[in-house]
Amino acid sequence: MIKKQWKKSVASQWHLFMPPLRPSLSELRIIEKKLIDGKKKNKEFKVAILGSTPEYRDLCRDYDINYKCIEYDRNNFIKLGKYMRRKDSETNLIVSDWRRMDFKDKFDIFLGDHVLAVISIKDYNNLFSNIRKHCFPNAKVILKTAIRENNKKLSYKTIFDLYRKKYYYLNPFAANWFNIVMAEYDFQNDSFSCKQSIKALNNAYKNGVCNYYEYNEITKRWKALGEFKMTIPNNKDLISKIKKYFKKVVLIHSKDWFTKQFPLIIFEK
Ligand SMILES: C[S@@+](CC[C@H](N)C(=O)[O-])C[C@H]1O[C@@H](n2cnc3c(N)ncnc32)[C@H](O)[C@@H]1O
Repeated sequence: MIKKQWKKSVASQWHLFMPPLRPSLSELRIIEKKLIDGKKKNKEFKVAILGSTPEYRDLCRDYDINYKCIEYDRNNFIKLGKYMRRKDSETNLIVSDWRRMDFKDKFDIFLGDHVLAVISIKDYNNLFSNIRKHCFPNAKVILKTAIRENNKKLSYKTIFDLYRKKYYYLNPFAANWFNIVMAEYDFQNDSFSCKQSIKALNNAYKNGVCNYYEYNEITKRWKALGEFKMTIPNNKDLISKIKKYFKKVVLIHSKDWFTKQFPLIIFEK
């Protein structure tokens, strides 16, 4: 039995999350162009969404594109569907774990927002090999992913000083997500625990390094995620892993302030 960490409580509190943890308008524009282009060349163009991302589902509905969400939890598909502008149905769902994908359908494009963050590095080879099996020839894969260049951690003082100087107009969770995750990241096991981060932020708040607003905006989201573990893969290691299964691996950048740490990784079968 493969362990699931994405619980119903996360899906039903999805309104708490915002870009870079959800797709931004600029990222959606890049994906929209690929979808329009694909449908122009092939009327039967088929999209696979890894997970149940409402923004991607809406985009496919906008252009009347055939799509399936590959999702291991039917309830999450339904709960996340409530955040859509449009409506879809369970005919758009394939209930399957990305680490198994034992179904027959093939696709022209795979889309995934933070897919690589929610599974562990030891499952990456399996994931890439599974995606490949369900790709038509020359199919594309677009994964929005947090990546790290190195193992550099910033102190909480530096993180919040930087926030107050440069990013104060952004929500503290969105603005600090990357640095806060890196501050507690376990590089040996390539993993981050929300619970551990809450403890560290508690100390930072008690020591006057951040204020209650900053502390609360971040920790209330960690609490919604619960026991969640997250992964920020190393840039070079990730690209060499992808290259074992796919060609033409490129990093595309949106116009967002966070794009350096959250590129769109695009590759082809
Ligand atoms: C892709 S992730 C990240 C959030 C994403 N932006 C979304 O809205 O779907 C979240 C979704 O993926 C699903 N999910 C997480 N791990 C999965 C896995 N190993 N196999 C299939 N679905 C998974 C969750 O149930 C959840 O609905």
